Amino acid sequence: MKALVLAGGTGSRLRPITHTSAKQLVPVANKPVLFYGIESLVAAGITEIGIVTGDTAPEIEAAVGDGTRFGAEISYLPQERPLGLAHAVLIARDWLGDDDFVMYLGDNFIVGGITELVEGFRADRPDAGILLTKVADPTAFGVAELDTEGRVTRLEEKPAAPRSDLALVGVYLFTPAVHDAVRAIGPSARGELEITDAIQWLVDQGHTVSPTVISGYWKDTGNVTDMLEVNRSVLEDVDPARDGTVDADSELIGRVRVEAGARVIRSRIVGPAVIGRGSVVTDAYVGPSTSVADDCVITSSEVEFSIVLSGSHIAHAGRIEGSLIGRGVRVTGADRAPRAHRLVLGDHSHVRLTS
Ligand code: G1P
Repeated sequence: MKALVLAGGTGSRLRPITHTSAKQLVPVANKPVLFYGIESLVAAGITEIGIVTGDTAPEIEAAVGDGTRFGAEISYLPQERPLGLAHAVLIARDWLGDDDFVMYLGDNFIVGGITELVEGFRADRPDAGILLTKVADPTAFGVAELDTEGRVTRLEEKPAAPRSDLALVGVYLFTPAVHDAVRAIGPSARGELEITDAIQWLVDQGHTVSPTVISGYWKDTGNVTDMLEVNRSVLEDVDPARDGTVDADSELIGRVRVEAGARVIRSRIVGPAVIGRGSVVTDAYVGPSTSVADDCVITSSEVEFSIVLSGSHIAHAGRIEGSLIGRGVRVTGADRAPRAHRLVLGDHSHVRLTS
């Protein structure tokens, strides 16, 4: 079995973070979301992985490499234009050959991995397998309708009036039957070849499409709260470590990982939390469910339930909570009158001020 990992797309829902970076590389507990997907494929015994890339190909290739570090063999399959998930299957036809494969959307995160699912598919070998999960806003997803026996009857991409709250999760299991399906369908209203339509075609042709309903799922819905939540849940399992230095005036409580080259000075860190390589935390408080990436500086500030990406500086900033801070950002306190907010914000930024 092979895996086709999709890592193209623009990431408009995660702006401004994705103005400068691929959405699949957004970190969760200091590791790109895409890496969790690759690791879960390898854990399920799938090591031949093709990654479909778009405009951000150089960045994805630089981050992932040839797969050696994952114990996988990774090939890159460039998709010239983002013409849809089913189009990605079309262009990967030769690479896929006649193997069964998992299609994994690189911006999806599945708590607990996919090993059981892959084993079930190998044992039963339906024509296709889909994953579903209940979501609050099905209009942002492909939506499945099941009959009373739990069989898939209808699939609809981003319906305005969803007929169920079961969203298609971005992990699909296919036999070569899907190749006829992706050739048979036409573009959707958004001009893409939808995998949802290809699966509907399989259902219409009498192929077996086996659904599995899961919980513990996240995708980049653009909702920062969701991102903080997945970060929180991954941090719950972080292995505590003190690979950096922590001075005698500092206190680490609970599951805290201080990565190599990081320094914690006169500060209190309450886990679960990660302080990335080379970051310096001084006279500060870092609270639960916080990931501080590499080379950040946090001085005389409090940061809790937040994600801070690499190279950012936070100084004399008071208390920051429930925040997603991008790369190379500077947040500083105003120590002189007038105590006004001075903002230089990228396109599509969000700010909530307390006073
Ligand atoms: C795609 C699929 C959609 C699925 C979603 C899961 O949506 O088209 O059916 O529910 O992935 O991530 P997109 O990310 O292209 O909006």
